[in-house]
Amino acid sequence: MKLVVAIIRPEKVTDVLRALYRVEVRGVTVSPVHGHGGESDQVETYRGTRVKMDLQDKMRLEIGVSDHFVEPTVKAILAAAKTGDVGDGKIFVLPVDKVYRIRTGEQDQEAVTPVEPPSAAE
Ligand SMILES: Nc1ncnc2c1ncn2[C@@H]1O[C@H](COP(=O)(O)OP(=O)(O)OP(=O)(O)O)[C@@H](O)[C@H]1O
Ligand SMILES: [Mg+2]
Repeated sequence: MKLVVAIIRPEKVTDVLRALYRVEVRGVTVSPVHGHGGESDQVETYRGTRVKMDLQDKMRLEIGVSDHFVEPTVKAILAAAKTGDVGDGKIFVLPVDKVYRIRTGEQDQEAVTPVEPPSAAE
């Protein structure tokens, strides 16, 4: 299992979520973040004062997947988040030791795989 962490442009979130849905990735966490891509600092004038504008608004996506889902997940993000300009973002793939679904106590493969919610009949 892996945790795919993608830092992307805020305006690309909807496209990326759609692309993930198409490759059957369901579980995702989205958070607003501020980041710096390592480029030499931009300096801008704000009310007559020179200030360093060195943090950009980005969105962070976290997606827990089983190993065979890593490649389609990464490919979907690469395609949907790209503009070709600097600042498109980064994807990190992290190893995951354990996953638990809290409702059922399921672990690992069973826990990371989306399931239909229990029907009303059950
Ligand atoms: N090495 C890194 N570690 C953690 N976060 C990073 C790293 N590099 C980039 N980020 C995050 O990704 C955001 C976008 O980075 P950015 O796209 O500028 O990366 P880059 O490597 O400079 O690529 P580019 O050359 O296309 O600009 C940053 O604002 C930051 O939040
Ligand atoms: Mg950059």
